[in-house]
Amino acid sequence: MTIDLREDRTHVTDLATSTIAPARPFPADFLFGAATAAFQIEGAAFEGGRTASIWDAFCRVPGAVIDGDTGDVACDHYHRMPQDVALMRDLGLQTYRFSTSWARVRPDGGPVNPTGVDFYSRLVDELLGAGIKPWLTLYHWDLPQALEERGGWANRDTAELFRDYALSMHDALGDRVDVWTTLNEPWCSSFLSYTGGAHAPGRQDVAAGLAAGHHLLLAHGLAVQALRERDPGLELGITLNLAPVHPVDPSDAGDVDAARRIDGQFNRFFLDPIFRGAYADDLLADVGPLGLDAVVRPGDLEVISTPIDTLGVNYYHGEHVSARPAPIELQGSAPTDRPTRSPFPAADGVHWHPQGLPTTAMDWEVEPDGLRELLVRVHREYADAAGVKLYVTENGAAYDDVVAADGAVHDEERAEFLRGHLGAILDAIEEGAPVHGYFYWSLLDNFEWAWGYDKRFGLVRVDYDTQVRTVKDSGLAYSAIIRDRALPG
Ligand code: NOJ
Repeated sequence: MTIDLREDRTHVTDLATSTIAPARPFPADFLFGAATAAFQIEGAAFEGGRTASIWDAFCRVPGAVIDGDTGDVACDHYHRMPQDVALMRDLGLQTYRFSTSWARVRPDGGPVNPTGVDFYSRLVDELLGAGIKPWLTLYHWDLPQALEERGGWANRDTAELFRDYALSMHDALGDRVDVWTTLNEPWCSSFLSYTGGAHAPGRQDVAAGLAAGHHLLLAHGLAVQALRERDPGLELGITLNLAPVHPVDPSDAGDVDAARRIDGQFNRFFLDPIFRGAYADDLLADVGPLGLDAVVRPGDLEVISTPIDTLGVNYYHGEHVSARPAPIELQGSAPTDRPTRSPFPAADGVHWHPQGLPTTAMDWEVEPDGLRELLVRVHREYADAAGVKLYVTENGAAYDDVVAADGAVHDEERAEFLRGHLGAILDAIEEGAPVHGYFYWSLLDNFEWAWGYDKRFGLVRVDYDTQVRTVKDSGLAYSAIIRDRALPG
């Protein structure tokens, strides 16, 4: 399929006649991409030797996922991969961020499965053939269920097994893939999964969440060490979901302390060990007797702080917190990706206050300037001193898309979301945070975890009955931005 961008060219002509503000160009080396994850798009859940992951098991727990949706078929990407790569090429993507499924590559966490590896090898060849840079993430939440039965991320052994899995992927793809991300959003795969229970494996155990968080960090460090030793030329990093955290009333000591505690458990729990080789004292005090002492062993923090090259930042919305409940008229629209139980006792009594901004279909408030603020902070407080490059590895929006009579999806809200956040990145760059690329989440509508197929984030619509793909207007708008390497004024 070839994408017709003529309508957007009209806009560029407007720019040329300067009837509107001038376009804002991106730096010459800025990479434009889109992201997906194995479990969310592949399907073929039990083909080619793949065994169950924790998400296959969780989907079968009554009530865990809306409508009892599963990843069995998803976007059927496993069978449609060449067509999906052709779609990326037609959109003009320069890079594609995907994840590999541990349960496909090493079923049950055991020996390497050549059929599973072959799928990713073909994907990488297809991408390179289309001129698209592969950006590989090793863990996007789909732990083999057999490993969960041995304690999952609450068991330290999982970190060592992750390093072995990373090396087996490098054996297969190291000759063609330069950029390796260890983990995607470890906050979700620890606190949302082992403490809050909203994600697989659905445990609700505060101590297990803390252990999982530490073991995920350890897994990251062990994999970085091993991959670096194997191949010093690789670009190695991790992707964190981070957010600016604001006290609702900056003059209220209770609100300021609530913001400190949430910043601790959400952002600094991961940033400090990776960049500074230590958990912050205030966070350790907040965690208190449940402590990390039981799981942190001598030498762990040195491993976790092994130097990296890139930090991926995933940003969806900001956090506005208070020691007091939100006014009644604003309640009910708190962010829905928050765990049902606080990950730390220290987060008890913290209340999230919506700001009355427009929201997406996830009920997340649209706050592009939060991305600028976040990137500038992360650069100044962490990445700059370590010489680490920043990428926005996820940002996107779900909306209740409608297929119009002409067969198209006129999703102007998503296009506006995209432009707003790309503008925030340009603002961050102007403030001195050298951001090197952006991945829209997601290329395709896909399995949105506990929300099943109910929430659509894609630049490309997927009809789950027919598997037909339709590029949405937002996809066309993104394609035009990539082509022009500038944001329309
Ligand atoms: C972050 C996750 O990495 C991704 O899997 C998810 O679909 C998006 N956020 C949207 O919730």
